[in-house]
Amino acid sequence: MEIIKTLDLEMSFINGTIKTDVLKGINININKGDFAGIVGPSGSGKTTLLYCLSSLEKITSGSVLFMGKDITKYSSKELSELRKHDLGFVFQFYNLIPNLTVYENILLPQVIAGEDGSYIDEILEMVGMKEYKTYYPNQLSGGMQQRVAIARALVNKPKIIFADEPTGNLDQKKGLEIMKILKRLNAENEITIVLVTHNEDYLDFCNKKIRLVDGHIVK
Ligand SMILES: Nc1ncnc2c1ncn2[C@@H]1O[C@H](COP(=O)(O)OP(=O)(O)OP(=O)(O)O)[C@@H](O)[C@H]1O
Ligand SMILES: [Mg+2]
Repeated sequence: MEIIKTLDLEMSFINGTIKTDVLKGINININKGDFAGIVGPSGSGKTTLLYCLSSLEKITSGSVLFMGKDITKYSSKELSELRKHDLGFVFQFYNLIPNLTVYENILLPQVIAGEDGSYIDEILEMVGMKEYKTYYPNQLSGGMQQRVAIARALVNKPKIIFADEPTGNLDQKKGLEIMKILKRLNAENEITIVLVTHNEDYLDFCNKKIRLVDGHIVK
């Protein structure tokens, strides 16, 4: 079953009088349960594509269908419902809130979604961070902070997780640990993963491989 599909997706940035065409007619299908990897040179449009797929960036033309519905036509209220309930995000720099503990950082999206925190211990267990519940982000290594960020992405039980270079800030060993966690979530919890990475080795984790060059899919 298709979870995300794009039709002739184009995206240009406009700054003053300068227009930069970044995505030039992207057609992709991502199915439920896929582990999709997006690779390509720096500046090829990987992050922009991920943001367009995940509703964080407005597209210029074409469409993005999420479970058959064109989310580019959604109101901001509909988009925020979609993000709250169906989508999870993991970024390169973790983006944890420094003054909140591990537990509170993970609780936050649940509070926003108006739910209790009953599921958090289970999620902390899934990412191997249960003993660190009361720690603050600056008391954790980069790999641990990224595991907390994954836990936070999981808390509203998303159907899909978008990850932009989640290992980009980590050494090889810690990067591999993050990849294994994502793979487990994909295999055991049936969460669809869309990963942007510079590391071609990680394509081994992916059943769908998308290579982007200069805003086009080349393979
Ligand atoms: N806010 C913006 N305004 C104008 N141009 C932008 C903006 N954000 C990105 N771009 C341009 O869009 C192109 C694609 O950028 P993008 O960040 O998607 O590339 P990327 O493949 O993720 O690169 P990297 O591997 O370095 O992260 C680049 O030419 C970049 O300069
Ligand atoms: Mg990028």
